[in-house]
Formats: sequence, C-alpha cells, structure tokens
Amino acid sequence: MKALVYLGPSHKALEERPKPALAAPSDAIVQITRTTICGTDLHILKGDVPACLPGRILGHEGVGIVEAVGAAVTAFKPGDRVLISCISACGKCDYCRKLMYSHCTTGGWILGNSIDGTQAEFVRIPHADTSLYPIPDGADEEALVMLSDILPTGFECGVLNGKVQPGSTVAIVGAGPIGLAALLTAQFYAPAEIIMIDLDSNRLDLAKGFGATTTINSADGRAVEAVMKQTDGIGVDTAIEAVGIPATFELCEEIVAPGGTIANIGVHGTKAALHLERLWDRNITIATRLVDTVSTPMLLKVLRSNKIDPKRLITHRFKLNQILEAYETFGHAAYTGALKVIIEA
Ligand SMILES: NC(=O)c1ccc[n+]([C@@H]2O[C@H](COP(=O)([O-])OP(=O)(O)OC[C@H]3O[C@@H](n4cnc5c(N)ncnc54)[C@H](O)[C@@H]3O)[C@@H](O)[C@H]2O)c1
Ligand SMILES: [Zn+2]
Ligand SMILES: [Zn+2]
Repeated sequence: MKALVYLGPSHKALEERPKPALAAPSDAIVQITRTTICGTDLHILKGDVPACLPGRILGHEGVGIVEAVGAAVTAFKPGDRVLISCISACGKCDYCRKLMYSHCTTGGWILGNSIDGTQAEFVRIPHADTSLYPIPDGADEEALVMLSDILPTGFECGVLNGKVQPGSTVAIVGAGPIGLAALLTAQFYAPAEIIMIDLDSNRLDLAKGFGATTTINSADGRAVEAVMKQTDGIGVDTAIEAVGIPATFELCEEIVAPGGTIANIGVHGTKAALHLERLWDRNITIATRLVDTVSTPMLLKVLRSNKIDPKRLITHRFKLNQILEAYETFGHAAYTGALKVIIEA
C-alpha cells in the first residue's frame, strides 16, 4: 500500500509499505477513504515530537471502512463505515476510567506518533471498540474528518479548559484549523467577544466569517496593546494558545485578565517563559491538555443537527498519491490559503 512516511526532521516520502495486519484481538484494520494533515504533523517534521521516530507512517485523522476485526471486537464488523479518533483508548485503565483517554496506558495519542497512522491506504486501529465511531447513514464524511481531532481539540483543550462563559471575553492566538475549531465551538457558550490573533490576514478574514468579533494581525508586534484597547485595559477572561511556539504562549500571559484562564492547545517543542513575577497575584489559571476526544459523541450530535458546519474548514482536496503536494499546500498556508486539506485514499 502507499503511505506517507516520516524520515526524520524535514524529511518525508510517499513509500510503498506492507498492508497492516491485526496484531491484537481488540484491533481493527480500516481502509482509509479520507484523511488529512494536522499542524501537529508539521511539528513532527520540525522535530518537535521526539516519540515519533523515522520510519513512522504519519496521520491521526480520517474516516474509512472496516476491513477486518480481531476476535474481541464486538462493536464493529467488516464493511462498517467509521470515524477514526486521533486518540486510541482501551476504556478500562485508570486514565480511561477518569475520561482521560489521551493518557490511556496502552493508547492515547499513538496513531501517526508511536504506531503507524492514517496517511496510508490502510491503518491498524488498536482498541477498535472504543477508538472508532460508527458513521451515521447519510452523514457527510468530509465534515466528519474534522471530528477526528480538530473539533474535539479546539473544544476540549481550548473552550472547556478555558472556561468560556456567556458574556465573557475570549482571545484565540492562532487562526489555523485548531484555532478556528475553538472559535466555532466557543460560540456554544455565547461569549460576548472573541478576538482572533494571527500573522496571516487571509486566515483572520476567514475567522470573521466564522464568528470572530475582532481580528488582530500581530505581525507589527503590538497585539498586546490592541487587545488591551479592545478590552478597556483589562485583558481577556480566556486566552487560548493555538500555535505552539513560546511567543504566542507568552502573548497569552500578557493578555489574560485577572481571574482569567490561559488554555494552551499548541504542541510545544521548546521552553516558554512563565512570567510569575507578573502573574503570581493575578488569580489566573493555566491549563494544558492533550485532547481526550471525550466530546466526540456530543460533537457528532451537534454536527447532525447542523448547528455547526466544520466542512467550511476544508479548502483543498488531493488524492493520496498527491500527498506531498498536499503537505506543501498545507505547510504554506499564507500563500495557498489552505486550512484543512482532504486526502482521498
Ligand atoms: N493539544 C492537543 O491535543 C493538540 C491537538 C491537535 C493540534 N495541536 C496543536 O495545535 C496547534 C495549532 O494547530 P493547527 O493545525 O491549527 O496549526 P497551523 O500551523 O495550521 O496554525 C497555526 C497558526 O498560527 C499562526 N501563527 C504562527 N506564528 C504566529 C505568531 N507568532 N503569532 C500569531 N499567530 C501565529 C499561523 O499563521 C497559523 O495560522 C499546533 O501546535 C498543533 O500541534 C494540539
Ligand atoms: Zn492533530
Ligand atoms: Zn485506557
């Protein structure tokens, strides 16, 4: 089968690989019909994720058709159309029992990280019963790809951890797919103001269409002043970091209001400064989270009721044999206008 393989920092290739086989009774083999590329895949290619070793097939998002199941799988059978969660969960370990699937002792974020992922024709899914979701009849499969990772991530790590409230003020730093997913799902709670901050004017324009009340291009280095001006000098109740570099986390430290929350979503590869000398008396909370995908069943229902339309995040479509081009397009979003790219296997 064809697969996109990570070959070490800055190197990747579309290679011919053996088709995966069942390795445990709880496994399923899924034929991928659609997958996509995540900002996290770009972090892996930057060398920010040491657990991901050269030789790994990348990808942790997608939908497909079950091809085979192990003897212990009871919820799925060959031919079933499924949504793949970016998080694999056994459902039984202490972390899973606490609904912290991201830290499952035999799962978590392993797909396209410590085991082969979804940017291929087939993928092996461990703990299939609790890591796959049936696709409802008539559902739009492209829209569902947005539920593998970005919508639960924006919602759980950004909106829930950031304690977005009716009437509150929110700033989201980073208007990539994850920041925009946080923007879409923050509106479940009717905050009064959602300020979107990025360097990319295209993405900021899109953010306005997705419900941002104010956009700030931080390229001039004056984002803090702009946020303070917008919030009467107070700052925001929730500052969501959706980039994954020190500068944007430190920006969140500067714009969070007393009593507010910084919700970090970004994957960080280097240390960021924590300015306790400024923050110690400001009653703030800093939250970090690897997405647990506990909100996926809820988000599936929201999607079915047409309350949000994540398909609007899809800007480009490619075939699997064009995946290198898809990476180029996604990796140069400022020039290409890319948000989520769909890859058809
Ligand atoms: N915590 C989790 O479970 C989890 C899950 C998925 C993704 N992530 C992470 O979320 C982050 C966002 O993902 P994405 O797919 O949207 O990535 P992306 O690369 O598509 O988007 C990042 C955005 O940040 C903007 N940006 C870059 N530098 C900036 C700066 N100095 N100031 C303001 N904006 C800046 C870019 O223009 C871009 O729009 C990544 O770090 C990704 O790894 C975390
Ligand atoms: Zn991801
Ligand atoms: Zn578990």
